[in-house]
Amino acid sequence: MAILVTGGAGYIGSHTCIELLQAGYEVVVLDNLCNSSEKSLDRVRQITGKEVTFYKGDILDREILKKLFSEHTITCCIHFAGLKAVGESVQMPLEYYYNNIAGTLVLTDEMRKHNCKNIIFSSSATVYGNPAQIPITEECPKGECTNPYGWTKSMLEQILTDIQKADPEWNVILLRYFNPIGAHKSGLIGENPNGVPNNLMPYITQVAVGKLKELGIFGDDYDTPDGTGVRDYIHVVDLAVGHVKALKKIDEKAGLCIYNLGTGQGYSVLDIVKNFEKANGVKIPYAIKPRRAGDIATCYSNADKAERELGWKAENGILQMCEDSWRWQKNNPNGYEE
Ligand code: NAD
Ligand code: UFG
Repeated sequence: MAILVTGGAGYIGSHTCIELLQAGYEVVVLDNLCNSSEKSLDRVRQITGKEVTFYKGDILDREILKKLFSEHTITCCIHFAGLKAVGESVQMPLEYYYNNIAGTLVLTDEMRKHNCKNIIFSSSATVYGNPAQIPITEECPKGECTNPYGWTKSMLEQILTDIQKADPEWNVILLRYFNPIGAHKSGLIGENPNGVPNNLMPYITQVAVGKLKELGIFGDDYDTPDGTGVRDYIHVVDLAVGHVKALKKIDEKAGLCIYNLGTGQGYSVLDIVKNFEKANGVKIPYAIKPRRAGDIATCYSNADKAERELGWKAENGILQMCEDSWRWQKNNPNGYEE
């Protein structure tokens, strides 16, 4: 009996593999390595002292899925595999819809054929669009996404919901992540973006390590306490633990469930810069730049439902997140490349 982790070599997937292995689960990873390195899984083995089975392949490839399902008894799939760069999705909508949506259709069809009807899906706070209320509860209506990436998440939520509705044997848990940052305490695994990072924390750590000159802050005239954008940053290890809790919920027959995974706390871009400097004693030079298209002013969660129903709550504070992000970057200035 094993858990299939698609996209398990990636940032959140590799951290989740650790928590699963440490909780005693057998783990099978399927990843095409289009945005990751197999070395992350070597590090997972090193950290846990346990084996993780790896299939290099695509969720769009029925043959590899058939092989994998025939070689293992998969009880649940935690589905991380997907393309996730917001800007790139605007340039390459077809590739994003094909990879994320067609990929999930093939995956769930093969799951069904092999009688595995349990899935935990990586969704995002982006499905709320410009949120109707702050803090955002799960009852908050979904909104207009500003990019194809966001739409793939919103559409996949609907598709998985309909699959569960038509066949109640399915258990579907949609996890809406807020802004994952941080890294495993060992400093051995972490976020490893290709090229210039789009997201705030990897940009800051690359400034700190001297690869980038200064942080550009996208706008200081938002309706927020200091004018910069406010987000709900969550430690990736807390997020990973949320998946283990969701698996327990599946065992209890979940049906369809939706949970926000966030801390419930909002921090501005300037708060993050200050906390990073305080946690690590490194100066982050920055310059105020124009707003970035598609950004919203404020986005943070109410995560009480996950606490009530999953017994899950984020444990790590912002200083810990900053410290752990920096340890990973400092020890691995070029990510998984030598
Ligand atoms: P990541 O890019 O590090 O991990 C995704 C993994 O999926 C990569 O290892 C990639 O190689 C693999 N992959 C992509 N397409 C594939 C395919 N067709 N077949 C097999 N493997 C494929 O990203 P991450 O930050 O770890 O995100 C994991 C999931 O969480 C994604 O679905 C992402 O959209 C979602 N999510 C991420 C964030 C975030 O800020 N990081 C926020 C909300 C939701
Ligand atoms: N920011 C900067 N400078 C940068 C990068 C970001 O000022 O170089 C600002 C943004 O304007 C925003 C905040 O930092 O105010 C956070 O930006 P990120 O790009 O790190 O994160 P987003 O909230 O824009 O988006 C992220 C993921 C999305 C996901 C969303 C909600 O990239 O995929 O969180 O989960 F949908």
